[in-house]
Amino acid sequence: MLRLANRRIIVGVTGGIAAYKSAELIRRLKDQGADVRAVMTAAAQEFITPLTLQALSGNPVHTTLLDTEAEAAMGHIELARWGDLILVAPASADFIARIAHGHGNDLLTTLCLAARCPIAVAPAMNQAMWAAPANQTNIQKLKEMGIKLFGPAEGSQACGDVGPGRMLEATQLADMAADLFPSNILTGKRVVITAGPTREAIDPVRFISNHSSGKMGFALAEAARDAGAQVTLISGPVHLATPERVQRVDVVSAEDMLKAALERVPQTDIFIATAAVADFRPQQAPDHKIKKQDNSGTMTLTLVENPDIVATVARQQPRPFTVGFAAETRDVVNYARQKIARKNLDMIVANDVSRSDIGFNSEQNAVTVIWPQGQQTLELASKSQIARDIVALIAQRLPKP
Ligand code: PMT
Repeated sequence: MLRLANRRIIVGVTGGIAAYKSAELIRRLKDQGADVRAVMTAAAQEFITPLTLQALSGNPVHTTLLDTEAEAAMGHIELARWGDLILVAPASADFIARIAHGHGNDLLTTLCLAARCPIAVAPAMNQAMWAAPANQTNIQKLKEMGIKLFGPAEGSQACGDVGPGRMLEATQLADMAADLFPSNILTGKRVVITAGPTREAIDPVRFISNHSSGKMGFALAEAARDAGAQVTLISGPVHLATPERVQRVDVVSAEDMLKAALERVPQTDIFIATAAVADFRPQQAPDHKIKKQDNSGTMTLTLVENPDIVATVARQQPRPFTVGFAAETRDVVNYARQKIARKNLDMIVANDVSRSDIGFNSEQNAVTVIWPQGQQTLELASKSQIARDIVALIAQRLPKP
Protein backbone atom coordinates (compact mmCIF):
# COMPACT_ATOMS: atom_id res chain seq x y z
CA MET A 1 0.00 0.00 0.00
CA LEU A 2 1.23 3.52 -0.79
CA ARG A 3 1.17 4.74 2.81
CA LEU A 4 3.22 7.84 1.96
CA ALA A 5 1.32 8.96 -1.16
CA ASN A 6 1.34 12.78 -1.42
CA ARG A 7 3.91 13.07 1.43
CA ARG A 8 7.10 15.07 1.04
CA ILE A 9 10.04 13.82 3.06
CA ILE A 10 13.42 15.47 3.55
CA VAL A 11 15.99 12.78 4.33
CA GLY A 12 18.92 14.30 6.21
CA VAL A 13 22.16 12.33 5.98
CA THR A 14 25.01 12.98 8.41
CA GLY A 15 28.53 11.51 8.58
CA GLY A 16 28.71 7.89 9.66
CA ILE A 17 29.24 4.45 8.21
CA ALA A 18 25.44 3.89 8.21
CA ALA A 19 25.13 6.63 5.55
CA TYR A 20 25.13 3.88 2.91
CA LYS A 21 21.76 2.73 4.35
CA SER A 22 20.22 6.13 3.56
CA ALA A 23 20.26 5.12 -0.12
CA GLU A 24 18.07 2.13 0.71
CA LEU A 25 15.89 4.31 2.95
CA ILE A 26 15.18 6.71 0.08
CA ARG A 27 14.11 3.77 -2.10
CA ARG A 28 11.79 2.41 0.59
CA LEU A 29 10.20 5.85 1.14
CA LYS A 30 9.64 6.24 -2.59
CA ASP A 31 8.19 2.70 -2.76
CA GLN A 32 5.54 3.94 -0.34
CA GLY A 33 4.73 6.89 -2.61
CA ALA A 34 6.73 9.70 -0.95
CA ASP A 35 8.41 12.55 -2.80
CA VAL A 36 11.91 12.63 -1.30
CA ARG A 37 14.67 15.24 -1.21
CA ALA A 38 18.03 14.44 0.37
CA VAL A 39 20.11 16.92 2.38
CA MET A 40 23.69 15.86 3.11
CA THR A 41 26.19 17.30 5.58
CA ALA A 42 29.82 17.67 4.50
CA ALA A 43 30.77 14.61 6.60
CA ALA A 44 28.02 12.52 4.96
CA GLN A 45 29.59 13.16 1.56
CA GLU A 46 32.77 11.40 2.79
CA PHE A 47 30.72 8.19 3.00
CA ILE A 48 28.31 8.36 0.05
CA THR A 49 28.04 10.66 -2.97
CA PRO A 50 25.23 13.15 -3.62
CA LEU A 51 24.94 11.62 -7.10
CA THR A 52 23.75 8.31 -5.65
CA LEU A 53 21.03 9.98 -3.59
CA GLN A 54 20.05 12.23 -6.49
CA ALA A 55 19.59 9.21 -8.77
CA LEU A 56 17.52 7.38 -6.15
CA SER A 57 15.38 10.32 -5.05
CA GLY A 58 14.91 11.77 -8.53
CA ASN A 59 15.51 15.23 -7.03
CA PRO A 60 18.58 17.44 -6.71
CA VAL A 61 20.53 16.83 -3.50
CA HIS A 62 21.01 19.80 -1.17
CA THR A 63 24.44 20.10 0.42
CA THR A 64 25.32 23.68 1.34
CA LEU A 65 23.60 26.51 3.14
CA LEU A 66 25.16 29.31 1.14
CA ASP A 67 24.95 28.02 -2.41
CA THR A 68 23.54 30.80 -4.59
CA GLU A 69 22.50 28.40 -7.33
CA ALA A 70 20.67 26.10 -4.93
CA GLU A 71 19.14 29.10 -3.17
CA ALA A 72 17.85 30.36 -6.50
CA ALA A 73 16.18 26.99 -7.16
CA MET A 74 14.81 26.40 -3.65
CA GLY A 75 16.01 28.45 -0.68
CA HIS A 76 16.55 26.82 2.71
CA ILE A 77 13.39 28.31 4.22
CA GLU A 78 11.35 27.20 1.22
CA LEU A 79 12.89 23.73 1.51
CA ALA A 80 12.01 23.58 5.22
CA ARG A 81 8.42 24.49 4.31
CA TRP A 82 8.35 21.94 1.49
CA GLY A 83 8.76 18.95 3.81
CA ASP A 84 5.97 17.12 5.65
CA LEU A 85 8.70 15.37 7.66
CA ILE A 86 12.45 15.74 8.18
CA LEU A 87 13.97 12.32 8.81
CA VAL A 88 17.67 12.42 9.70
CA ALA A 89 19.14 8.97 9.11
CA PRO A 90 21.82 8.35 10.10
CA ALA A 91 22.00 10.99 12.84
CA SER A 92 25.54 11.19 14.26
CA ALA A 93 26.33 12.11 17.88
CA ASP A 94 27.72 15.43 16.61
CA PHE A 95 24.52 16.26 14.70
CA ILE A 96 22.36 15.32 17.70
CA ALA A 97 24.47 17.64 19.89
CA ARG A 98 24.13 20.47 17.40
CA ILE A 99 20.32 20.35 17.13
CA ALA A 100 19.98 19.82 20.88
CA HIS A 101 21.76 23.16 21.31
CA GLY A 102 19.93 25.00 18.53
CA HIS A 103 22.89 25.35 16.17
CA GLY A 104 22.29 26.49 12.60
CA ASN A 105 25.78 26.15 11.21
CA ASP A 106 24.97 24.06 8.16
CA LEU A 107 22.00 23.44 5.87
CA LEU A 108 20.58 20.46 7.78
CA THR A 109 20.63 22.11 11.22
CA THR A 110 19.16 25.29 9.71
CA LEU A 111 16.32 23.28 8.17
CA CYS A 112 15.61 21.70 11.55
CA LEU A 113 15.45 25.16 13.12
CA ALA A 114 13.18 26.55 10.38
CA ALA A 115 10.91 23.48 10.08
CA ARG A 116 7.27 23.55 11.06
CA CYS A 117 6.84 19.86 10.22
CA PRO A 118 7.76 16.93 12.51
CA ILE A 119 11.45 15.96 12.79
CA ALA A 120 12.62 12.40 13.41
CA VAL A 121 16.19 11.25 13.97
CA ALA A 122 17.61 7.76 13.60
CA PRO A 123 20.80 7.70 15.70
CA ALA A 124 23.75 5.69 14.46
CA MET A 125 26.95 5.54 16.51
CA ASN A 126 29.26 3.33 18.50
CA GLN A 127 27.65 1.86 21.65
CA ALA A 128 30.04 3.72 23.99
CA MET A 129 29.25 7.03 22.28
CA TRP A 130 25.53 6.27 22.52
CA ALA A 131 25.85 5.61 26.28
CA ALA A 132 28.05 8.67 26.92
CA PRO A 133 26.37 11.00 29.47
CA ALA A 134 26.72 14.01 27.15
CA ASN A 135 24.95 12.14 24.33
CA GLN A 136 22.22 10.86 26.66
CA THR A 137 21.62 14.44 27.92
CA ASN A 138 21.30 15.59 24.30
CA ILE A 139 18.89 12.75 23.48
CA GLN A 140 16.76 13.77 26.46
CA LYS A 141 16.73 17.36 25.14
CA LEU A 142 15.58 16.17 21.71
CA LYS A 143 12.68 14.30 23.30
CA GLU A 144 11.71 17.41 25.26
CA MET A 145 11.80 19.40 22.00
CA GLY A 146 9.27 16.97 20.49
CA ILE A 147 11.78 15.42 18.09
CA LYS A 148 10.95 11.77 17.43
CA LEU A 149 13.58 9.15 18.07
CA PHE A 150 13.66 6.20 15.64
CA GLY A 151 15.90 3.63 17.33
CA PRO A 152 18.72 2.92 17.74
CA ALA A 153 18.81 -0.86 17.45
CA GLU A 154 21.15 -3.15 19.35
CA GLY A 155 23.60 -5.56 17.78
CA SER A 156 27.04 -5.93 16.29
CA GLN A 157 28.57 -2.71 15.05
CA ALA A 158 30.91 -1.82 12.18
CA CYS A 159 33.72 -1.22 14.72
CA GLY A 160 33.34 -4.74 16.16
CA ASP A 161 31.54 -3.68 19.37
CA VAL A 162 28.15 -5.09 20.33
CA GLY A 163 25.42 -2.97 21.94
CA PRO A 164 22.90 -0.18 21.28
CA GLY A 165 23.71 2.39 18.61
CA ARG A 166 23.03 0.69 15.27
CA MET A 167 20.75 2.51 12.87
CA LEU A 168 17.40 0.79 12.30
CA GLU A 169 16.93 -0.92 8.94
CA ALA A 170 15.55 1.13 6.03
CA THR A 171 12.20 -0.72 5.88
CA GLN A 172 11.64 -0.16 9.61
CA LEU A 173 12.42 3.55 9.25
CA ALA A 174 10.08 3.92 6.25
CA ASP A 175 7.27 2.19 8.20
CA MET A 176 7.87 4.42 11.24
CA ALA A 177 7.77 7.49 8.98
CA ALA A 178 4.44 6.31 7.51
CA ASP A 179 3.07 5.74 11.03
CA LEU A 180 3.57 9.45 11.78
CA PHE A 181 0.88 10.36 9.27
CA PRO A 182 -2.49 9.59 10.78
CA SER A 183 -4.64 8.97 7.77
CA ASN A 184 -4.06 7.09 4.55
CA ILE A 185 -7.66 6.07 4.18
CA LEU A 186 -7.99 7.26 0.58
CA THR A 187 -4.61 6.15 -0.71
CA GLY A 188 -4.78 5.35 -4.41
CA LYS A 189 -8.25 6.91 -4.83
CA ARG A 190 -8.96 9.57 -7.44
CA VAL A 191 -11.28 12.23 -6.05
CA VAL A 192 -13.05 14.99 -7.98
CA ILE A 193 -14.63 17.83 -5.97
CA THR A 194 -16.78 20.69 -7.23
CA ALA A 195 -16.58 23.89 -5.20
CA GLY A 196 -17.72 27.50 -5.09
CA PRO A 197 -20.57 29.17 -6.96
CA THR A 198 -21.34 29.19 -10.65
CA ARG A 199 -22.02 32.41 -12.56
CA GLU A 200 -24.77 32.52 -15.15
CA ALA A 201 -24.42 35.38 -17.60
CA ILE A 202 -27.23 37.88 -18.09
CA ASP A 203 -25.10 39.90 -20.50
CA PRO A 204 -21.30 40.42 -20.78
CA VAL A 205 -21.15 42.40 -17.48
CA ARG A 206 -23.91 40.96 -15.30
CA PHE A 207 -24.55 37.53 -13.89
CA ILE A 208 -26.68 35.47 -11.49
CA SER A 209 -24.70 33.80 -8.71
CA ASN A 210 -24.76 33.08 -4.95
CA HIS A 211 -22.72 33.51 -1.76
CA SER A 212 -20.61 30.36 -1.91
CA SER A 213 -16.97 31.17 -1.09
CA GLY A 214 -15.57 27.75 -2.00
CA LYS A 215 -14.17 27.25 1.52
CA MET A 216 -16.01 23.99 2.20
CA GLY A 217 -14.96 22.45 -1.12
CA PHE A 218 -11.35 23.60 -0.79
CA ALA A 219 -11.20 22.18 2.76
CA LEU A 220 -12.47 18.87 1.40
CA ALA A 221 -9.79 18.92 -1.29
CA GLU A 222 -7.10 19.32 1.41
CA ALA A 223 -8.62 16.62 3.60
CA ALA A 224 -8.86 14.14 0.71
CA ARG A 225 -5.27 14.94 -0.32
CA ASP A 226 -4.06 14.44 3.27
CA ALA A 227 -5.87 11.10 3.29
CA GLY A 228 -3.68 10.04 0.36
CA ALA A 229 -6.04 10.71 -2.58
CA GLN A 230 -5.19 12.24 -5.93
CA VAL A 231 -7.50 15.25 -5.98
CA THR A 232 -8.98 17.40 -8.76
CA LEU A 233 -10.89 20.50 -7.70
CA ILE A 234 -13.35 21.92 -10.21
CA SER A 235 -13.93 25.42 -8.92
CA GLY A 236 -16.30 28.22 -9.79
CA PRO A 237 -15.02 31.81 -9.39
CA VAL A 238 -13.61 32.15 -5.84
CA HIS A 239 -10.80 34.06 -4.12
CA LEU A 240 -8.96 31.10 -2.62
CA ALA A 241 -5.43 29.83 -3.23
CA THR A 242 -5.18 26.38 -4.76
CA PRO A 243 -4.28 23.81 -2.09
CA GLU A 244 -0.84 22.32 -2.67
CA ARG A 245 -0.73 19.07 -4.60
CA VAL A 246 -4.30 19.47 -5.79
CA GLN A 247 -5.11 19.86 -9.47
CA ARG A 248 -7.45 22.80 -10.03
CA VAL A 249 -9.78 23.35 -12.97
CA ASP A 250 -11.43 26.79 -13.09
CA VAL A 251 -14.91 27.08 -14.55
CA VAL A 252 -17.56 29.81 -14.62
CA SER A 253 -21.02 28.47 -15.45
CA ALA A 254 -22.94 25.30 -14.54
CA GLU A 255 -22.57 24.05 -18.11
CA ASP A 256 -18.76 24.52 -17.90
CA MET A 257 -18.75 22.67 -14.56
CA LEU A 258 -20.76 19.77 -15.98
CA LYS A 259 -18.40 19.45 -18.95
CA ALA A 260 -15.31 19.46 -16.69
CA ALA A 261 -16.91 16.87 -14.39
CA LEU A 262 -18.02 14.49 -17.15
CA GLU A 263 -14.57 14.60 -18.78
CA ARG A 264 -13.13 13.23 -15.53
CA VAL A 265 -15.80 10.76 -14.39
CA PRO A 266 -14.28 7.70 -16.13
CA GLN A 267 -11.08 8.21 -14.10
CA THR A 268 -12.81 9.05 -10.80
CA ASP A 269 -13.41 6.86 -7.74
CA ILE A 270 -15.17 9.48 -5.59
CA PHE A 271 -17.13 12.54 -6.74
CA ILE A 272 -18.04 15.17 -4.13
CA ALA A 273 -20.41 17.97 -5.19
CA THR A 274 -19.89 20.85 -2.78
CA ALA A 275 -20.53 23.55 -5.37
CA ALA A 276 -23.54 25.80 -5.09
CA VAL A 277 -24.58 25.41 -8.71
CA ALA A 278 -27.12 27.92 -10.01
CA ASP A 279 -30.31 25.95 -10.69
CA PHE A 280 -31.32 28.32 -13.51
CA ARG A 281 -29.60 30.47 -16.13
CA PRO A 282 -30.93 33.23 -18.36
CA GLN A 283 -32.28 31.72 -21.55
CA GLN A 284 -30.42 34.32 -23.57
CA ALA A 285 -27.29 36.32 -22.81
CA PRO A 286 -26.82 38.99 -25.48
CA ASP A 287 -23.29 39.81 -26.67
CA HIS A 288 -23.73 43.46 -25.68
CA LYS A 289 -24.62 45.08 -22.38
CA ILE A 290 -28.38 45.41 -21.94
CA LYS A 291 -29.22 49.15 -21.87
CA LYS A 292 -31.43 50.45 -19.09
CA GLN A 293 -33.36 52.67 -21.47
CA ASP A 294 -34.28 49.62 -23.63
CA ASN A 295 -36.63 48.62 -20.78
CA SER A 296 -39.57 50.62 -19.55
CA GLY A 297 -39.00 50.56 -15.77
CA THR A 298 -39.15 46.76 -15.52
CA MET A 299 -37.24 43.96 -17.11
CA THR A 300 -38.16 40.31 -17.53
CA LEU A 301 -35.53 37.58 -17.57
CA THR A 302 -36.56 34.17 -18.82
CA LEU A 303 -34.64 31.48 -16.97
CA VAL A 304 -34.09 27.91 -18.07
CA GLU A 305 -33.07 25.05 -15.83
CA ASN A 306 -29.39 24.15 -15.65
CA PRO A 307 -28.29 20.53 -15.94
CA ASP A 308 -28.00 18.81 -12.57
CA ILE A 309 -24.29 17.99 -12.39
CA VAL A 310 -24.23 15.56 -9.47
CA ALA A 311 -27.32 13.68 -10.70
CA THR A 312 -25.79 13.39 -14.18
CA VAL A 313 -22.55 12.02 -12.68
CA ALA A 314 -24.57 9.51 -10.61
CA ARG A 315 -26.25 8.24 -13.83
CA GLN A 316 -22.95 7.33 -15.54
CA GLN A 317 -21.94 3.67 -15.86
CA PRO A 318 -19.65 2.84 -14.18
CA ARG A 319 -20.13 5.64 -11.70
CA PRO A 320 -17.93 6.96 -8.92
CA PHE A 321 -19.03 6.88 -5.26
CA THR A 322 -21.13 10.03 -5.48
CA VAL A 323 -21.59 12.49 -2.61
CA GLY A 324 -23.85 15.55 -2.76
CA PHE A 325 -24.42 18.47 -0.42
CA ALA A 326 -27.88 19.79 0.40
CA ALA A 327 -28.15 23.46 1.29
CA GLU A 328 -31.48 23.87 3.07
CA THR A 329 -33.07 26.55 5.23
CA ARG A 330 -35.72 24.39 6.96
CA ASP A 331 -36.52 20.73 7.60
CA VAL A 332 -32.90 20.17 6.61
CA VAL A 333 -32.45 16.43 7.14
CA ASN A 334 -35.83 15.53 5.66
CA TYR A 335 -35.22 17.51 2.45
CA ALA A 336 -31.68 16.11 2.23
CA ARG A 337 -33.06 12.54 2.44
CA GLN A 338 -35.40 13.33 -0.45
CA LYS A 339 -32.44 14.68 -2.46
CA ILE A 340 -30.25 11.60 -1.89
CA ALA A 341 -33.05 9.46 -3.39
CA ARG A 342 -34.00 11.85 -6.20
CA LYS A 343 -30.39 12.31 -7.34
CA ASN A 344 -29.46 8.64 -6.73
CA LEU A 345 -26.49 9.52 -4.46
CA ASP A 346 -24.42 7.32 -2.16
CA MET A 347 -24.22 10.01 0.51
CA ILE A 348 -25.40 13.56 1.12
CA VAL A 349 -24.19 16.25 3.51
CA ALA A 350 -27.11 18.29 4.86
CA ASN A 351 -26.15 21.88 5.53
CA ASP A 352 -28.45 24.35 7.30
CA VAL A 353 -27.76 27.56 5.39
CA SER A 354 -30.30 29.65 7.34
CA ARG A 355 -27.66 30.19 10.06
CA SER A 356 -25.13 32.99 9.57
CA ASP A 357 -22.35 31.23 11.56
CA ILE A 358 -22.21 28.18 9.27
CA GLY A 359 -22.76 27.28 5.62
CA PHE A 360 -22.14 29.99 3.04
CA ASN A 361 -18.92 32.00 3.37
CA SER A 362 -18.23 31.10 7.01
CA GLU A 363 -15.10 29.62 8.58
CA GLN A 364 -17.10 26.97 10.43
CA ASN A 365 -19.76 24.47 9.60
CA ALA A 366 -22.09 21.94 11.25
CA VAL A 367 -23.71 19.25 9.11
CA THR A 368 -25.52 15.93 9.11
CA VAL A 369 -23.98 13.31 6.85
CA ILE A 370 -26.66 10.97 5.50
CA TRP A 371 -26.41 7.68 3.62
CA PRO A 372 -29.24 5.29 2.71
CA GLN A 373 -29.08 3.27 5.95
CA GLY A 374 -27.81 5.81 8.46
CA GLN A 375 -26.65 9.28 9.35
CA GLN A 376 -24.16 11.10 11.57
CA THR A 377 -24.25 14.63 12.90
CA LEU A 378 -20.99 16.60 12.86
CA GLU A 379 -21.19 19.37 15.48
CA LEU A 380 -19.94 22.94 14.97
CA ALA A 381 -16.24 22.91 13.99
CA SER A 382 -13.86 24.50 11.48
CA LYS A 383 -14.54 23.60 7.85
CA SER A 384 -11.17 21.78 7.86
CA GLN A 385 -12.28 19.55 10.73
CA ILE A 386 -15.72 18.94 9.18
CA ALA A 387 -13.96 18.06 5.90
CA ARG A 388 -11.69 15.53 7.64
CA ASP A 389 -14.72 13.92 9.31
CA ILE A 390 -16.64 13.76 6.02
CA VAL A 391 -13.62 12.13 4.33
CA ALA A 392 -13.44 9.54 7.15
CA LEU A 393 -17.15 8.73 6.71
CA ILE A 394 -16.74 8.43 2.93
CA ALA A 395 -13.77 6.06 3.42
CA GLN A 396 -15.84 3.88 5.78
CA ARG A 397 -18.70 3.61 3.32
CA LEU A 398 -16.73 3.00 0.11
CA PRO A 399 -17.48 -0.39 -1.43
CA LYS A 400 -14.75 -2.86 -0.46
CA PRO A 401 -12.64 -3.98 -3.44
O1 PMT B 1 -18.58 27.57 -0.41
P1 PMT B 1 -18.83 27.88 1.05
O2 PMT B 1 -18.97 29.37 1.29
O3 PMT B 1 -17.82 27.22 1.95
O4 PMT B 1 -20.25 27.28 1.45
C1 PMT B 1 -20.44 25.90 1.48
C2 PMT B 1 -21.81 25.50 0.92
C3 PMT B 1 -22.92 26.06 1.80
C4 PMT B 1 -21.97 26.02 -0.51
C5 PMT B 1 -21.84 23.93 0.91
O5 PMT B 1 -21.66 23.45 2.20
C6 PMT B 1 -23.15 23.38 0.36
O6 PMT B 1 -24.14 23.21 1.05
N1 PMT B 1 -23.15 23.10 -0.98
C7 PMT B 1 -24.35 22.69 -1.74
C8 PMT B 1 -25.03 23.91 -2.26
C9 PMT B 1 -26.24 23.57 -3.12
O7 PMT B 1 -26.28 24.00 -4.23
O8 PMT B 1 -27.13 22.78 -2.58
P2 PMT B 1 -28.45 22.24 -3.34
O9 PMT B 1 -29.25 21.63 -2.24
O10 PMT B 1 -29.07 23.31 -4.17
O11 PMT B 1 -27.90 21.13 -4.32
C10 PMT B 1 -27.84 19.74 -3.98
C11 PMT B 1 -26.65 19.09 -4.61
O12 PMT B 1 -26.81 19.11 -6.02
C12 PMT B 1 -25.31 19.76 -4.32
O13 PMT B 1 -24.36 18.76 -4.16
C13 PMT B 1 -25.06 20.58 -5.58
O14 PMT B 1 -23.65 20.72 -5.83
C14 PMT B 1 -25.70 19.70 -6.64
N2 PMT B 1 -26.21 20.43 -7.81
C15 PMT B 1 -27.21 21.34 -7.69
C16 PMT B 1 -27.71 21.94 -8.82
C17 PMT B 1 -27.17 21.62 -10.07
N3 PMT B 1 -27.61 22.19 -11.17
N4 PMT B 1 -26.18 20.73 -10.16
C18 PMT B 1 -25.69 20.14 -9.06
O15 PMT B 1 -24.76 19.31 -9.14
